[in-house]
Amino acid sequence: DESVVRRDRFSGGPARSFLSSLEADDRIFEADLAVDRAHTVMLAEQGIIADDVAGQILTALDATEVDGHDSLPDGEDVHEAIETAVIQRIGADGGKMHTARSRNDEVAACIRYRLREDILEAIETTLALRESLVDVATDHSETIMPGYTHLQPAQPTTVAHWALAYEGAVGRDTERLLETYARINESPLGGAAFAGTTFDVDREQVADLLGFDGVVENSMDASSGRDFLLEAVQALSIHATTLSGLAEDVIIFANRGFVDLSDDYSSTSSIMPQKKNPDTLELVRAVAGDAAGGVQGLATTLKGLPRAYNRDLQRATTHAWETVDAVTEASEVAAGAVATADWNEGTMAAEAGEGFSTATGVADLLAANGLPFRTAHELVAIAAENGADYDALESAAQEVLGESLEAHVDPAAVEDALDPARSVASRDSRGGPAPEAVEAQLEPARERLVAD
Ligand code: ARG
Repeated sequence: DESVVRRDRFSGGPARSFLSSLEADDRIFEADLAVDRAHTVMLAEQGIIADDVAGQILTALDATEVDGHDSLPDGEDVHEAIETAVIQRIGADGGKMHTARSRNDEVAACIRYRLREDILEAIETTLALRESLVDVATDHSETIMPGYTHLQPAQPTTVAHWALAYEGAVGRDTERLLETYARINESPLGGAAFAGTTFDVDREQVADLLGFDGVVENSMDASSGRDFLLEAVQALSIHATTLSGLAEDVIIFANRGFVDLSDDYSSTSSIMPQKKNPDTLELVRAVAGDAAGGVQGLATTLKGLPRAYNRDLQRATTHAWETVDAVTEASEVAAGAVATADWNEGTMAAEAGEGFSTATGVADLLAANGLPFRTAHELVAIAAENGADYDALESAAQEVLGESLEAHVDPAAVEDALDPARSVASRDSRGGPAPEAVEAQLEPARERLVAD
């Protein structure tokens, strides 16, 4: 076949394997078959190719699918190889499949078709993670734990309040991925090389057949735009960053004995028999680096590319596949690790008051009883350095106010404020950690999860 011979002449040299994306295109083998089928059906219905030729092409595509990607003839990419396979099966008429298109709109369609599926899978894993977090919050709405800023004991909180903090962030990750999905889900087919075609193609029909939500209007934009790839990788990278923070928290909690990871999500040491290490979460934490690398690689490849198609785009695509695979897996593992972890309520309760973590509540109490907050802050700060208990507060009151604490506040209320559980219960402002404030956050979180 002449076209096959011609191709060999142009890319048979030492650069052939450098040029070829055939191996990596395994990822879009099924997508390309779907795109070929839709395009062929449209060509026949528009009277651009004869029905019987279209029938033969479709049969040849089926046979090519059965044989699989690994049996494709050699080619610069999967698009060329599948076309060659069709021509080998039915003769020169197989070449009619490529009427009114280019590999440029074809590959853009394949990437969008496959990425759509991959992003949906990534979205699923964010939903599973949110479900795990909501379950943890439901089970632990009154489980007291220390809360930190700068990794120093700050104020007591609950496991539920912590879990819902991440549920909120992962919820926004889901939203971003859904928005990205909508922009991926448009058909570039009919853009051809970039300049459209002389044939009377029906772009909407092809889009419909492939389940796209419409077409990318401008043919140059359709064939060469890759902002959807960058957007997808960025949304994934943001999710990976959320995951890395979650993983780091759980690693620290495991280190302090607050949480025991299930054996399924732990690893041991080849030398130290007693070790149970949070390796899965360390890998989750590291995936943020892979994803940030994906963004960097893709953005750098796309930067300054002129319109329309340039072969650089072939190397842009792989960043997206690597990123979506790594982040989806990390998200799935994080969901499983959170869902199967055991929280050690006793250890957390014993630690919750460490570092005078109820100091803010005591200062709030004094302020609620008429002291300027700054004066209360100073008084409690002095007590913090002298024992951090009621006696220390009393002598700080003598020092700062020149009179007993009792002149300002009921001692029983101070004892309450010093207690971690009661301290948490009193912080019932909207979004706060008090059990009823957490209940109020849980219901909308469950509803958003169902809606997404
Ligand atoms: N394999 C190429 C890619 O992934 C598509 C082929 C377009 N090639 C071309 N020479 N116009 O982008």
